[in-house]
Amino acid sequence: MIPPKPPSRPDRLRFWQHLRAFRRDILSAQPERLYRAWMAEFRTPFFRSYLCNDPALIDRVLGDAADDFPKSDRVREGLAPLLGRSVFVTNGDEWRRQRRIIDPAFGAGNVLAMQPAMVAAGKAAVRRLSAQAGQVVDVEPLANHAAADVIFRALFSVPIEDRDAAAIHQEFRAYQRAQPLLNLAAFLRLPRWLPRLHRPATRRTAARIRALIGDMVDARVAQVRAGTAPDDLATRLMTLPDPVTGRPFTAGEIVDQVAIFLLAGHETSASALAWTLYLVACDPGLQDALAAEATEALGGATEDALQEAADPPRPAALAGRLPLARDVFREALRLYPPVPMMVREAACPVVFRGRAVRPGSQIVLSPWHLHRHERLWDRPDAFDPGRWRTPAGRQSARAAWLPFSKGTRVCPGAGFAMAEGPILLAILLREFRLFPEDPPPMPVAHLTVRAFAGIHLKMTLRHGPDS
Ligand code: HEM
Repeated sequence: MIPPKPPSRPDRLRFWQHLRAFRRDILSAQPERLYRAWMAEFRTPFFRSYLCNDPALIDRVLGDAADDFPKSDRVREGLAPLLGRSVFVTNGDEWRRQRRIIDPAFGAGNVLAMQPAMVAAGKAAVRRLSAQAGQVVDVEPLANHAAADVIFRALFSVPIEDRDAAAIHQEFRAYQRAQPLLNLAAFLRLPRWLPRLHRPATRRTAARIRALIGDMVDARVAQVRAGTAPDDLATRLMTLPDPVTGRPFTAGEIVDQVAIFLLAGHETSASALAWTLYLVACDPGLQDALAAEATEALGGATEDALQEAADPPRPAALAGRLPLARDVFREALRLYPPVPMMVREAACPVVFRGRAVRPGSQIVLSPWHLHRHERLWDRPDAFDPGRWRTPAGRQSARAAWLPFSKGTRVCPGAGFAMAEGPILLAILLREFRLFPEDPPPMPVAHLTVRAFAGIHLKMTLRHGPDS
């Protein structure tokens, strides 16, 4: 099956035409040759930009030489109203200190302990959706709701119905409406005299989100002091000391980090889940196999499986018993990587594939193109979860599968997301059959890769009257 892919733009465009196309959608603003090239240079009146598809070059930019390719100040400026100085936007020693505290909070044992939150959110999604069985639903908001539920349960031990969680989730939806496209100023190295593209509504919404997070953080600080705090991600973030200095985050720093966990933790996972549901909707046989695997792993009583999942000596907990769901989720992340492109800035002169790259040049790493690269994947545009079990598929993945980035700045939530996605998929498919509706969804890059007009699927109960 070849699922939807946006059309490419003509090869030659003037800078301002490119900018206009870029503003509409960064995926369709790119030329076709990027699916074949190892590297492409773009010259603009203001800066040079290098898109790197060569795996060795990507390893260099994200690996040992990462300090030579920091995130640009523009990325920080673009996201500052919401994220402050969170780990997503900082560089150097400040960033290193933040990762020293954050990484242990996402260690394998802790992800295992968060699986019950994922199962509980999956079951809540099934309850909500059962009322709509037999109808056509847009699965993007559904996936948003479920992923937000997971992250609030994992962070603060509260479901999305909790008053504060619901208020924050609602403000995030407003934020996404106010800032529907990637902030151009953050992505392009535009000159300082061009106006910043933050709308007042974006700033106001970001301030409200931060105030609400501040309230939840204050309440948790009080619980930590009283010794009554639950053992969850928020408590771990507040109490884990930096192994080098011995100092934990301050309450103000926690607000920045919680803001990125809420944003990164629900926006990306929701995008991935929605596309996964679309892909499996197109393959009834695969759905049956996934439902059978889910029933085997979860049984009739989800709680039984949970008990085991929460037990640290069993490393292959629930997510480990869903290998097919995992392969399907990986393949969905390949075809529709939620973060389609990442941008760095060359801090010093370097040579890339024989070409001199000036300091200040923009370095673009594009999971979108890498994952569909004609020289790195067999049938790159085909949806084929089976490729994950072949030596050739694994070899391609080692070189060219980058949904969570790699190297020192790899997504700290990768293990979390790779448990969450398959678990939610399994729980939903155990209960529902999905059918695609026309027209097929067309991918566009908003904050993450989304469908231009939603992803509409008919959902029926697998064991219900309409099955
Ligand atoms: C399918 C789900 C996810 C995908 C595809 C994803 C992808 C990514 C990518 C590509 C980056 C690197 C961005 C860059 O360097 O420009 C990143 C960074 C990050 N992600 Fe994720 N992510 C996912 C889920 C999560 C979750 C669940 C969390 C936390 C709960 C999270 C937290 C973060 C943070 C804090 C960073 C910044 C790390 C740093 O810069 O050091 N992500 N993610």
